[in-house]
Amino acid sequence: MTRHFLSLADQSTEELRALLDLARQIKLFPPTFAEACAGKTLAMIFQKPSLRTRVSFQTGIFQLGGQGLYLGPTDIQLHRGETIADTAQVLSRYVDGIMARVFAHADVAGLAEHGTVPVINGLSDLLHPCQVLADLQTIEEKKGGLRGLKLAYVGDGNNMAHSLLYGGARFGMTVSISHPRGYAPDADVLTRAREIAASTGGAIQVTEDPREGVEAADVVYTDVWASMGQEGEHSERLKRFEGFQVNADLMGCARPDALFLHCLPAHRGEEVSAEVIDGPQSAVFDEAENRLHAQKAIMVRLMAR
Ligand code: CP
Ligand code: NVA
Repeated sequence: MTRHFLSLADQSTEELRALLDLARQIKLFPPTFAEACAGKTLAMIFQKPSLRTRVSFQTGIFQLGGQGLYLGPTDIQLHRGETIADTAQVLSRYVDGIMARVFAHADVAGLAEHGTVPVINGLSDLLHPCQVLADLQTIEEKKGGLRGLKLAYVGDGNNMAHSLLYGGARFGMTVSISHPRGYAPDADVLTRAREIAASTGGAIQVTEDPREGVEAADVVYTDVWASMGQEGEHSERLKRFEGFQVNADLMGCARPDALFLHCLPAHRGEEVSAEVIDGPQSAVFDEAENRLHAQKAIMVRLMAR
């Protein structure tokens, strides 16, 4: 059966452990992997903009000896009505893997269902698993482990919140989500994350009080208040998310050595103050760098010769 990387809920803790170990090796000894995907092509479908995902996948596959093919929103026939099923079947005749950034999660799942090559979720409205693999790598580097740590996510119950719930639960972390009323994480994702946490010794907490959510956290995480595709809600969300900014005052509720993470792009003065994201507790650029190493691990695992 073709393996994919669509959701951290689909991966066992052992598989994710192996990916994190491989990502560490790749980061330490990149030349060792210079031929791992020699001659392989990764098609990269983007229905939305990207800095990190696009550049880290394209350079990542190049560093593994392969090539990346950028397929932007108007480059292929999807936007003119060609189906996901046909796109998947055609691409599978040419390339060795597909990375896709989409709106509807069903589209990336559909590529996996109808194609015959591995599919990697480069962000959907529901999930962002590549980001969280890099986040877990970063936390492990900075904190020396994952199990038992408290990760406090503050903000919208969006794709980032969902993947952090799954990723944290997989490694026995306590994941707390603080969100404004009306912006809770998806109920099915919460149920699944709680099931996973129950099997790993982790815990899931949800609150509308950010100070309670961040209390004694080892890692504080936030994301934009209006995700890609929600630009029209931006001004309404600015009002609804008041009090949910990660600033020095809120960081004061976390442990004194707490790490600050953000998937980026960030909006200073909205979800995070400049003082925090540019301050000594922030590891956002190490986190962004780890996208490269973590995704190279995913590609080696799914596409290597
Ligand atoms: N964090 C992240 O996925 O960034 P991009 O949208 O720039 O790819
Ligand atoms: N929640 C954000 C994440 C960007 C990496 C979005 O979907 O736009």
